[in-house]
Amino acid sequence: MARLGVNVDHVATLRQARGGREPDPIAAAVLAELAGADGIVVHLREDRRHIQDRDLQILRQTVQSKLDLEMAADEAMVKIALSVRPDFVTLVPERRQELTTEGGLDVAGHRERIKDIIARLHEGDIPVSLFIEPDLEQVRTAHKVGADLVELHTGRYANAVSFKDVQTEFDNIVQAAKLSGKLAMRVNAGHGLNYFNVSRLLTVPEIEEYNIGHSIMARALLVGMDRAVREMKALIDSQTQIP
Ligand code: PXP
Repeated sequence: MARLGVNVDHVATLRQARGGREPDPIAAAVLAELAGADGIVVHLREDRRHIQDRDLQILRQTVQSKLDLEMAADEAMVKIALSVRPDFVTLVPERRQELTTEGGLDVAGHRERIKDIIARLHEGDIPVSLFIEPDLEQVRTAHKVGADLVELHTGRYANAVSFKDVQTEFDNIVQAAKLSGKLAMRVNAGHGLNYFNVSRLLTVPEIEEYNIGHSIMARALLVGMDRAVREMKALIDSQTQIP
């Protein structure tokens, strides 16, 4: 059965909008786990626009499932990861002005730096996932630099409109997932996934985990966190092919 990682960054975004204490992403993570989430995902950004250091520290003490820390490939973040010790780290690109994470990490273009950062995290026994476009060269390079997992960026698939474009983007994900599997890297997928477009990806047997934030939080606002997470979890459970 594939797993569901719930990203609670948006809860922190709402809190930061008023600079106060609510809503608390810690409470959201507890509710998400009670509703069946297999993991909690947070992105500690350099500009701290949503998740704060305090959130990460408390989540490390309270998350019962797996804590996935998304972070930029830089020195300051490596220090934080080595001290907080999430269950795994996902390296993502980070540019200050972007609305969210746009595009995957260019592993091929920053090979030595990423290799070095993965080695440092491995010294601390922290497995590392690389958030990459479903591109065969990126997959091969991810393997060469020592990644344990890849998270395939599903944004292009999610944004594709025409039948042809959806098919093309889906095929890219299938090929990248297959190659990752052959290279013995585990495969996660995420970005832009919702209750409609996730279904087709569930037919890709290599994908072990779906990391979903926006669509679950948007639904939670209307029907509550428990129901929003349960509905996504049920969708994933009903259709995945992983034995
Ligand atoms: N995976 C990664 C690496 C991300 O950066 C994000 C966005 O924070 C997500 C998954 C979740 O994307 P969404 O909020 O569109 O579901």
